[in-house]
Amino acid sequence: MNIPFRFTTCRAGSEATLKRDIASHFAGELNPAFMKPQFITWKVRHPGFSPPKNLSHFARVSGISIGLCKTIGELVEHARQFGTKPLRLHVFPRITAEDGVEAATWQRIDTLAAEITSVLEQAGIPLETKLPLAHGDLILDVIVGETAEEPLFLGSHEHQPGMHAQPGGLPRIALPEDVPSRAWLKFEQALAWRGWDELDLRGQTALDLGCAPGGATYALLQRGMNVLGIDTGEMDPRVLEIAKTQGVRFDHWRTAAGRLNLTALPKEVALLLCDINLAPPLVIPEIQRIQDAVQARRLILTIKLNTPALEDRAHEFIDTIRDFAPAPVFATQLAGNRREICICAG
Ligand SMILES: C[S@@+](CC[C@H](N)C(=O)[O-])C[C@H]1O[C@@H](n2cnc3c(N)ncnc32)[C@H](O)[C@@H]1O
Repeated sequence: MNIPFRFTTCRAGSEATLKRDIASHFAGELNPAFMKPQFITWKVRHPGFSPPKNLSHFARVSGISIGLCKTIGELVEHARQFGTKPLRLHVFPRITAEDGVEAATWQRIDTLAAEITSVLEQAGIPLETKLPLAHGDLILDVIVGETAEEPLFLGSHEHQPGMHAQPGGLPRIALPEDVPSRAWLKFEQALAWRGWDELDLRGQTALDLGCAPGGATYALLQRGMNVLGIDTGEMDPRVLEIAKTQGVRFDHWRTAAGRLNLTALPKEVALLLCDINLAPPLVIPEIQRIQDAVQARRLILTIKLNTPALEDRAHEFIDTIRDFAPAPVFATQLAGNRREICICAG
């Protein structure tokens, strides 16, 4: 069956970028159909055209659009059409603030998810809840509006490597008040996206390019890593305090990445981070030079796309990184990202 509509969710403010990205890759095949903040559906124009499962790096979730449901009963009737394969139910809010979804919103969503689960179970529709997700798992996406009056949006997608495992690509991580910067949140979200939050990183070394004031470094130290941070800027004093508490080491080289003495860098780097606020054509060659020297096993790169022209070159930047970074390389716009994308490699 060829379903003629797709849906995408995205960060607040990335709707226009997502539209341009999809238009440039699927010109004439996918046309925007319905649009709300952080949500766009697409009409597949030619029945023979089969778009890729993940439509854009600027879409946190994309899938087949089933449509609006005024009641849970209506939603369950649609779910019956999926046959006997167990479904994973992902219920998540359409509107997401960049510092995380509020606890009260999750409470409302979780109550609704429990209600939908119970009705699906009563209808004999098999559900899967065991983690982790596997390639090919079938997900029923229920996207919830701001008010109870707004109908539920129903879609579905098949899980694939590089896709978010958490409903809506929204890991339940709140930005603590006492960390040096919101880079803490982006780093933790990147780990959750790749499933690297389960890794035991204790005692390993991270190289953090553009580390000041220190949100990401703080998270690395909390996770028991030794960190070498590179930045001309000053670090928040809490970074040294957490290093002391954790019994790990933090070194700060106050220099620009381009001036690094590569031969002095640590030999065993488990994780290379970069959050330097320079345009990608300037920062990517620096990352490559440093990665060639340290051969880090994993990379977490925040690539700044501060203009539409840079956003429109995202694929080119990802391909350049793919040429030198450990495989696999995936890109997404994390819930906490601003005008930037997160690229993870390894
Ligand atoms: C977005 S901030 C980084 C935030 C940081 N990752 C954190 O966790 O708090 C960007 C940083 O890049 C640094 N930066 C800019 N150009 C740089 C360069 N050539 N080499 C190293 N750091 C640079 C700036 O000084 C700034 O501190």
